[in-house]
Amino acid sequence: MTDASAERRTVVVTGAGRGLGEAMARRAAADGFRVVVAELNEERGSRTAAAVRDAGGEAEFVPLDVADPASVEALAARVAAAAPVYGLVNNAALANGVGGKEFQDIDVEVWDRLMAVNARGPWLVARHLLPLMSRPGRIVNIASDAALYGSPRLAHYIASKGAVIALTRAMARELGERGITVNAVAPGLTEVEATEAVPAERHALYAANRAISRPQQPDDLVGLVAFLLGEESRYLTGQVIAVNGGFTMH
Ligand SMILES: NC(=O)c1ccc[n+]([C@@H]2O[C@H](COP(=O)([O-])OP(=O)(O)OC[C@H]3O[C@@H](n4cnc5c(N)ncnc54)[C@H](O)[C@@H]3O)[C@@H](O)[C@H]2O)c1
Repeated sequence: MTDASAERRTVVVTGAGRGLGEAMARRAAADGFRVVVAELNEERGSRTAAAVRDAGGEAEFVPLDVADPASVEALAARVAAAAPVYGLVNNAALANGVGGKEFQDIDVEVWDRLMAVNARGPWLVARHLLPLMSRPGRIVNIASDAALYGSPRLAHYIASKGAVIALTRAMARELGERGITVNAVAPGLTEVEATEAVPAERHALYAANRAISRPQQPDDLVGLVAFLLGEESRYLTGQVIAVNGGFTMH
């Protein structure tokens, strides 16, 4: 499906080398956006960009470490050539230690690293891309339903995603009059490479408590992101939408 209004508009997707980010990048390209695959892992990022091009879309890989201010500045300098930037999907994140330590046992270094990537990263990227953004513009922050559910033994990740949700609301208020909407998507536990290491017990928790019990796939999420990037979401901002088969309801 190609959205005529999307043609030639640039959307930056961070962490699009694999998993949900890759699925979102592929969908955005299929919808007619020019996609910047901004990714830490060069091999993954190049692969996604090549896959998008092979499918007839337009994509460029740009190396990015969202935790490194100099790297984020370099991203902005690179995409300035393709400005204005219409959309930003803040997807890159770390989720190490799922179902591992209780909050009192989490190492300070692990906590700080996760915060630098997951919470500070989306802010830094938005901060540097904002001067390049068009009106209308779209920012979609990828949070997690773990922050809504309060998943145990994951406090560092949950705190970082709670920050993403709060940041979404503050940015939405600041950017509303500038024609930029800011929303958060909170995925549930999805079947991707990264979640293969998640303990079976956590998969079972989701299976038992979803309204739709079948496993969640990346394609279950991309339609919502496409809508949030599209024209028809123009009056929707500051919202957190959980896509998790009804695991959480709020
Ligand atoms: N998969 C799930 O079940 C699930 C559930 C809830 C939320 N999420 C969220 O969805 C998003 C994508 O998750 P995923 O499972 O596809 O993850 P993933 O690990 O498969 O992909 C994340 C990508 O981000 C990249 N990345 C990591 N650190 C980076 C950095 N500092 N700078 C730039 N890129 C970096 C990685 O190289 C990787 O390609 C994340 O924000 C995650 O927290 C995922």
